[in-house]
Amino acid sequence: MKIIDGKATASEIKLKIAKEVAEMINRDEDAPHLAAVLVGDDPASHTYVNNKEKSCKEVGFISSIYKHPASISEKELLKVVDFINNDDDIDGLIVQLPLPKHISVNKVIESINPAKDVDGFHPVNIGKMVLNLPTYLPATPFGILQLFDRYKIETEAKNCVVLGRSHIVGSPISILLSRKAYPGNCTVTVCHSKTRNLKEICSNADILIAAIGQPGFVSADMVKKDAVVIDVGIHRVKSSKTKSGFRLIGDVKFDEVSKKCSYISPVPGGVGPMTIVSLLSNTLKAFKKEVYH
Ligand code: GUN
Repeated sequence: MKIIDGKATASEIKLKIAKEVAEMINRDEDAPHLAAVLVGDDPASHTYVNNKEKSCKEVGFISSIYKHPASISEKELLKVVDFINNDDDIDGLIVQLPLPKHISVNKVIESINPAKDVDGFHPVNIGKMVLNLPTYLPATPFGILQLFDRYKIETEAKNCVVLGRSHIVGSPISILLSRKAYPGNCTVTVCHSKTRNLKEICSNADILIAAIGQPGFVSADMVKKDAVVIDVGIHRVKSSKTKSGFRLIGDVKFDEVSKKCSYISPVPGGVGPMTIVSLLSNTLKAFKKEVYH
């Protein structure tokens, strides 16, 4: 069994980005600029946005965070997005999700200029992704593709089972892995809350992607021998073994599944670090106007 080391892969990619940015700055060019809009005080969202800001600094990007209370109206938030859309000094814009219930996520995402939508969530960019046209791929699925590439994992003609159909992970990764491309050319099955025979379907997977949001959902009896297992889950659970009293676990029972599979991405240190690096890659693309000219 081989561990898919997302932390090391992310560091390699970050170094390459940092080198490119340093060269730009040496030529007296501007650095890429990522803006994040953060609404409310969800602790996980604050952690994600702070980590994104830290990673921006590490590679030499400019980053700004637009913080607003959960009480902000939809109209006011749309104005914030419009302001950033019109600021030529900002290359990429993300609105951290989830948003408070009184705000329409769809309205907010549709208000983002697709050329700055480095999360790849705008319907225009999702359409381009489906059609295999140049675009910004959503960060987590993009990170998974880069891990397949880095570890030269064969995907053609493989049975791939995706657990979860979220707009952020399950749905886009299922589309990307069924495209005529590498990584891709898989036969993909998407499982969700209404799926019957879940265990049987999973047991047939050459590649199993767990993005179901339930700690330790995937057990060894659901996994085919020598399967490739990608764990997208991240959950903070109580632990008597750590100083903090907590530890991070994924959607997969790592100890038992790792004994059965050929490759596995751990939590932490697997998909997570790749997500942020993918956002940095998309921001660099936006800065270089590689998608929208
Ligand atoms: N919330 C959870 N994941 C994401 C992400 O990739 N982007 C944004 N904007 N919000 C998220």
